[in-house]
Amino acid sequence: MTQFLLDSGDPDEYRAIATLAKQHQEVLFGATTNPTLIAKKLLGPLRQSVSEASTKVTQEKAFELQKQIVLEIINIVPGPVSAEVYADEKTTANEMISQAREITKWHQRVVIKLPTTIEAFKARTVLRREKIPINNTLVFSQQQVLAINLHEQLIQKEGPIENEWQPFISPFVGRLDDINIDGMAVVEWAMRQKRTHNFTPLILLASVRRAEHIKRGLDFEVDLITAPAKVYQEWFTLTNEQKQVVDAKSYASNFKPIDYWEPPRCTV
Ligand code: E4P
Repeated sequence: MTQFLLDSGDPDEYRAIATLAKQHQEVLFGATTNPTLIAKKLLGPLRQSVSEASTKVTQEKAFELQKQIVLEIINIVPGPVSAEVYADEKTTANEMISQAREITKWHQRVVIKLPTTIEAFKARTVLRREKIPINNTLVFSQQQVLAINLHEQLIQKEGPIENEWQPFISPFVGRLDDINIDGMAVVEWAMRQKRTHNFTPLILLASVRRAEHIKRGLDFEVDLITAPAKVYQEWFTLTNEQKQVVDAKSYASNFKPIDYWEPPRCTV
């Protein structure tokens, strides 16, 4: 069954959406946060733009605030809460590893968000060997999804990793939609490949912009969805009949499709 996570940096929103979900016989299972959302929360009252906010918050301050917020959210939702390492194009694998080791001490339900870059793959190797749950974020292509699945298979071959959460893979559908590419195609491909090859990472539909994304995700029985509060305010308040008739495809009719990629046969 698909589980719902809230994508936010504001504990009040988690409380409000958890309550709304309950009122509509749904469950807000978990959470995702990211540095931009945290910065927004920190400087929100000043009504600054997100880019202004991001540059004015020091990395240390954002890290500390993320910790406080994550620990607050942990008490609101029963499931996993993803917290992100700070990383830009210059951040090394070792820097990501030390941040992740620190974040993972916060709580056993914390999952570490890593970007899907070469440096982050190096960090992923070390962290998965330490049995730390990882949410690979900023995923935009079928090839990235496959790379993460194969990486996880390699790690699992070294020995079983028993912890509460399978790792997550987060395709960013809204960012692809923003450039007129049908982002949901990456999620649908990921779910098909997962079923065909029994890949273990959970697919997390991320960068949700609209109720139609939720509908398409549910139709495909995606493992997890993370969406902002305003999308849940719309989705949870629909009746079952209204949910059934949401036209999940028209919004993407002018988007460039992503052709289904059949990966070459490979074993690890
Ligand atoms: C998920 O983990 C991310 O925080 C999120 O979905 C990003 O979405 P955006 O494209 O709206 O920034």
